[in-house]
Amino acid sequence: MDYFPVLKLIALLLLVDLGYAAGNYQTYDQLPKGIDWRRYGYISPVQNQGGCQASWAMSAVGAVEAHLGIKNRRLDQLSVQQLIDCASNYGCGGGWASVAFNYTRDHGIASKTSYPYRAEQSTCSYDPSTSAGRIRSYVTLRYADEKCLAEVVYNIGPVVVHLDSLHDSVLEYKSGIYREEDCRFDMAYLTEAVLVVGFGTDSNYGDYWILKTSFGKNWGENGYMRLARNAGNMCGVATLAQYPIV
Ligand SMILES: *[C@@H]1O[C@H](CO)[C@@H](O)[C@H](O)[C@H]1NC(C)=O
Repeated sequence: MDYFPVLKLIALLLLVDLGYAAGNYQTYDQLPKGIDWRRYGYISPVQNQGGCQASWAMSAVGAVEAHLGIKNRRLDQLSVQQLIDCASNYGCGGGWASVAFNYTRDHGIASKTSYPYRAEQSTCSYDPSTSAGRIRSYVTLRYADEKCLAEVVYNIGPVVVHLDSLHDSVLEYKSGIYREEDCRFDMAYLTEAVLVVGFGTDSNYGDYWILKTSFGKNWGENGYMRLARNAGNMCGVATLAQYPIV
């Protein structure tokens, strides 16, 4: 009898049970059922951006925290405010996670406690000698490919995505799996950055993404939204997906 397939199956089950194979992941041909990175301790609490359109910075910081956390086996919370003040001219007027990633690559990022959130743009007051984290670069995933997004979230870690969010149903969202038939996925409609921290399947309502927002813990499912997955790139979830290389 040939035991090799059995051994392979056991190895795969072990991998699935551990939840990740981040360090030694080789191929993208497995299709995992799901993962929730919140269970591993590398996702910081959901913050409330307040009157500042900070989702580009909050989602990027969440991604950097998670990827550095996975690498260092320790969660260090990092500064959103530094990015608002220092990384772009837009500050509280919105922006792109890639701007935050490039800035963090070039300058490093302070800890959250040393440069706390104020929900308004001020003069940059970052002292590079206080850097608490740095990244090497970032990766942009294949356009509108939800399978690719799932494989990367499962095997590597959380991914920043950008959504078409200008719908009343977003404001009204409380719980469950969000679907909006008026949602568009073209680049031009993307208005909100969020962090994909996992995905799964509900036996009644189908496949979903788990999204960490910048709307505070009192919004949605404790600050998270579950969004329909494999539903035609709902709201652009896989249109512009990016994660940092640490
Ligand atoms: C980030 O840096 C890369 C490489 O230096 C560059 O090609 C890209 O345009 C930059 N992105 C942004 C948004 O500035």
